[in-house]
Amino acid sequence: MLTETVSPALTQFASDVRQGLNTAGQKQLPSKYLYDAVGSALFEVISVIPEYGVTRADERILRSAAEQIATLVPFPLTVCELGSGSGKKTRYILEALSLHAELDYYPIEISAGALSSCERELSNIYGVNTVGLEREYIEGLRDVAQHRNPDTHLLVLFLGSTIGNFDSGSDCQFLSQIRQTLCCGDTVLLGTDLLKPASRLIAAYDDPAGVTAAFNLNLLARINRELDADFDLRQFEHEARFNQITGSVEMHLRSKKKQTVYLPSADCRISFREGETIWTESSHKYSLAEVGKLAHSSGFRCEQRWVDDEWPFAESLFVAI
Ligand code: AVJ
Repeated sequence: MLTETVSPALTQFASDVRQGLNTAGQKQLPSKYLYDAVGSALFEVISVIPEYGVTRADERILRSAAEQIATLVPFPLTVCELGSGSGKKTRYILEALSLHAELDYYPIEISAGALSSCERELSNIYGVNTVGLEREYIEGLRDVAQHRNPDTHLLVLFLGSTIGNFDSGSDCQFLSQIRQTLCCGDTVLLGTDLLKPASRLIAAYDDPAGVTAAFNLNLLARINRELDADFDLRQFEHEARFNQITGSVEMHLRSKKKQTVYLPSADCRISFREGETIWTESSHKYSLAEVGKLAHSSGFRCEQRWVDDEWPFAESLFVAI
């Protein structure tokens, strides 16, 4: 018998896509699949778009607070970063920390491309030994935590407001999972985008040059590339909404007409009504009180926090208790 070898990651992708689209209710795809090589590159462009203030706010805080952060975390130290992206903004922290002691830095990324550019970007910091892990967040973190020297503390970086992509309630669950891998006194530096007027948020997630639209539509292109589907990208359009009830920006892909798409690898056809959407991402916007509650209910206390006032965004230092 002839058997084809399909990677487990591809099988998982196919089954997640099948499950997310084969439903009578709201079609939905996990937002992590936005980040293939093309999607990661498009996100890098989004991060410099004037309307999208998140990444620059994150960077401003990290730049100005790096030295203070280095005085607040216990040494000897190992740093893990969940979803390092290109690693550009992490440099400030690593440089400040490396002035206190040598350290190991483990960026944990599911995107191989982002991981290698991060390793390249940060390989030349004196006193920092960088080892990239192409893994899911918690898996990678467990691995590092299990192999650490017992007297070494962990600092987990979870920047850029990626925490906002979890469904409501699972942000806390995820932080609790992080907490379980840590020891008392270990720390988490958490970036959270804050609530701001809906008009500002919509402009940020539906930029006039259409880069965010391309980022969103690329998910369908990826399904075509990797799963041989026949999505006609011109028959779908990007939509950004602010959901007042959940406090989250939602990205959707709206079908411009009644149509059917064939997914050969899943051996199924998916039909769309005119105007029907696939929900591809939620990006939660926090209040400061909510961030405090998040720390509390997942086993941390909030030691210090920094807020950018140009683009409301908070960086919080949580200590495991
Ligand atoms: C990388 C998850 C922080 O939610 O703002 C940007 C992703 N989506 N524009 C975010 C994103 C649309 C971004 N994060």
